[in-house]
Amino acid sequence: MCTNVCQFTVFISRQEQTNIPTSHSHRRNSMPKGTAVITGAANGIGQAYAQRLAADGFDIAVADVVEASATKALVEAAGRKFFSSLVDVTSPESTLKFAADVGETLPPVVALVNNAGIYPWKSFADTDYALWRKVLGVNLDGAFLMSKAFIPGMVERKLGRIVNVPSRSCLLPVLAGLGFRDRSDHRRRRRASPPVSTPTPLPPTTQAKD
Ligand SMILES: NC(=O)c1ccc[n+]([C@@H]2O[C@H](COP(=O)([O-])OP(=O)(O)OC[C@H]3O[C@@H](n4cnc5c(N)ncnc54)[C@H](O)[C@@H]3O)[C@@H](O)[C@H]2O)c1
Repeated sequence: MCTNVCQFTVFISRQEQTNIPTSHSHRRNSMPKGTAVITGAANGIGQAYAQRLAADGFDIAVADVVEASATKALVEAAGRKFFSSLVDVTSPESTLKFAADVGETLPPVVALVNNAGIYPWKSFADTDYALWRKVLGVNLDGAFLMSKAFIPGMVERKLGRIVNVPSRSCLLPVLAGLGFRDRSDHRRRRRASPPVSTPTPLPPTTQAKD
């Protein structure tokens, strides 16, 4: 089962988009230093992000469901401040409280890395609805809720970056889960039906009023 959200786009208003600078994003050291928030950084790739961003001069805040003591040691060894909380990114209350706590503890948040993710590697047949909802909850709702918690401050300060960590696995067809294991069939299906834009008329109930 593909468990990752590949292209997750946060739609914010045009005014908000204008307020968040996007130029020079390719220049790692061009952004004023402040706090980088990383979800799921107690382990793995998130911990590596924390270590690297701390080395680049960012203070680090970590939201994870497990203790992030090893990450704390790495960040502090780089001479940066560290804050973490046990936060389940699927909880609206916890993510909002975390944003408030970070705001009181560390310099202004200039970056959010939505890294927390789970990928149970179950076949489609072995995936029940509860597991499906759990994966979407962490990988998709988590990124949404953390963005909701931190975007207002970024907009207010007119500065912020959000990085949503995807996986290339979502580019593959869900063939293993559906039992299509033949490679030639796999390739044929990958070539078929690329996503296209289809201009369907909006029903009156969903049309914008202004
Ligand atoms: N490892 C890979 O090869 C790979 C490849 C592509 C994408 N990714 C993505 O990179 C990200 C990190 O992967 P990883 O391999 O380092 O995983 P990992 O399991 O080592 O780390 C994930 C972290 O997320 C935390 N977490 C899980 N559920 C959470 C929740 N509800 N709230 C807060 N934190 C939670 C875990 O405690 C853990 O510390 C994931 O989003 C994953 O899908 C990983």
